[in-house]
Amino acid sequence: MTAMVLEAIGLTRDFKGFTAVDHVDLRVQRGHIHALIGPNGAGKTTCFNLLTKFLVPSSGQILFNGRDITAATPSQIARQGVIRSFQISAVFAHLTVLENVRIGLQRALGTSFRFWQSERALARLNERAMELLAQVDLDRFADSIAADLPYGRKRALEIATTLGMEPELMLLDEPTQGMGHEDVHRVTELIKKISAGRTILMVEHNMSVVAGICDRISVLQRGAMLAEGTYAEVSANPQVMAAYMGTSAGELEGAH
Ligand SMILES: Nc1ncnc2c1ncn2[C@@H]1O[C@H](COP(=O)(O)OP(=O)(O)O)[C@@H](O)[C@H]1O
Ligand SMILES: [Mg+2]
Repeated sequence: MTAMVLEAIGLTRDFKGFTAVDHVDLRVQRGHIHALIGPNGAGKTTCFNLLTKFLVPSSGQILFNGRDITAATPSQIARQGVIRSFQISAVFAHLTVLENVRIGLQRALGTSFRFWQSERALARLNERAMELLAQVDLDRFADSIAADLPYGRKRALEIATTLGMEPELMLLDEPTQGMGHEDVHRVTELIKKISAGRTILMVEHNMSVVAGICDRISVLQRGAMLAEGTYAEVSANPQVMAAYMGTSAGELEGAH
């Protein structure tokens, strides 16, 4: 086992002559919660899409557990344990919370639906789905219709569905985006909890979330890696402070 779960080497993506991600080197250590931050337009989403195989790099290499996954598809890396939450767009609005997680489990197992029609298999599946719901504190909502859940709880449901695929590396794209204070807090605690025994890479705007739970932070600016380190290190870095000036000054103080 290598210490690095995920490595990007010279990762680059051009869009018609514009370089959105420019020779990015990124190393994500096993067991860490690693944040990818940077001002608007820095290339975070593009980078994330490259790492999750939703975009093809113009050049560079991506390694998962030392194995080259540069040419792999999202479903190929999912089978190896690299899962992007929300990629399955887990929530079927008209089904119950329990049904949603069960469908995720059936998909993850890749077995034909017919197999699950045996009583014992269904009972086991329900049991596992309830365990996952308990992990994200949704067990008492098992019979609620997914559409009726508050926003933060929907995110928790998506996370439960992702956990059903037993990811070794979980990738989260702005997990607290658009949430009120209470939901941000709940989802942050949830990410901390589910990070036990796995690695998480997340794009996150909310600096208090980053400061609170992330072991390591990589800062992108204009497509290039500007800094990397702990929150204390990057927030004290003059180049990082300058990069945030004028876009969202003070954001790195973690005031919100
Ligand atoms: N499909 C695309 N075609 C052309 N330009 C793009 C495309 N996707 C992103 N870009 C450009 O790449 C830069 C980085 O975008 P993005 O990765 O979305 O930044 P961030 O997520 O950090 O805000 C932006 O200038 C954006 O306009
Ligand atoms: Mg973005």
